[in-house]
Amino acid sequence: MPDTLGFLDAVAGLPEQLDAAHEVMGSLDLGSLPAADAIDSIVVLGMGGSGVAGDVLAAVGSSLPVPVSVLKQYRIPAYVGPRSLVFAISYSGNTEETVEMTKGALDAGAPVIPISCGGKLAELANEHGRPAVACPVGLMPRAALGALVAPLFVTLFRLGVFPEGHALLVKAQEQLAKRRDQCEPSAEGDKNPARELARRIGRTIPLVYGGGALGRVAAQRFKNDVNENAKAPAFCAAYPELNHNEICGWGQHGDVTRQVFSLVQLHHGYEHARLTKQMQLSRDLIEEVFVQVIDVEAAGDGRLAQLLDLMYLGTWVSCYLALDNDVDPGPIDAIAQLKAALGPHEG
Ligand code: F6R
Repeated sequence: MPDTLGFLDAVAGLPEQLDAAHEVMGSLDLGSLPAADAIDSIVVLGMGGSGVAGDVLAAVGSSLPVPVSVLKQYRIPAYVGPRSLVFAISYSGNTEETVEMTKGALDAGAPVIPISCGGKLAELANEHGRPAVACPVGLMPRAALGALVAPLFVTLFRLGVFPEGHALLVKAQEQLAKRRDQCEPSAEGDKNPARELARRIGRTIPLVYGGGALGRVAAQRFKNDVNENAKAPAFCAAYPELNHNEICGWGQHGDVTRQVFSLVQLHHGYEHARLTKQMQLSRDLIEEVFVQVIDVEAAGDGRLAQLLDLMYLGTWVSCYLALDNDVDPGPIDAIAQLKAALGPHEG
């Protein structure tokens, strides 16, 4: 079983990682951050396994009084300024898109909270006298989800912008621990839902559909985890938008798709009633052009618990897909090669 980076151990530690980051953030000095009534928007800068923390906040934070934007690009838009609370997240601290956006946000006078293990982001924080959040070292960014998500929720809770932020984290930690116990390698055979899902997907290509804000992020992460951990193709889309375009694409070539694609439908307890109906109707319409349709239900209490539960289950599934094919889930050579080929960025 190749696992050169101890990636499975890191995955298994997610509940404790979330818990630890929650604790640490409780004592961070937030003195220089603006008061709640001085914040017009929340902006999260970050790519890949780091930026996803912003997607989680945007999806879960439906009760936030200000909009959340998650930027995954080089330049920041003109609305980012002194009244935007900006989280700049890069686990390594050196991802060029995130570093360039962070410089742009600082130049625009925005209060920026860098979250990283160090690197250029930490240097920028130092230069500008910003309080920086340090991540636990030695993980792959995508295995540091707890350390990247908790700072957002705790900071907003402590600023009084997100009163439910703390309770959401506590309930998420409880659910992740339950899911870990079901899915870790010591849980054998078909009693392990992740192992069983991976067995059913096998060498088919998963197409992951989720519904609404939570389902969209869960489906995206599920797909990304299959790509990065199993190094295998996977695709995703979200309801209701897909019912306005992608759904037409299953009208042809069913003889091919029926041998290739497994549809994985992710469900959660916060779906709009009409959304649930749309998902069922679409399933009935397209079921026959897939190898199979696999329905997955989120567990847990609260929007964060249910979203992280689906994401965590997907991570475990992707690890078993890797191991079943003798693939090491940790290294991501393609990303490393691309970053190296891009060369240094002076931006
Ligand atoms: C690696 C991973 C990648 C990185 C991304 C950005 O595990 O998931 O998606 O997160 O290349 O790098 P960082 O997170 O260091 O800013």
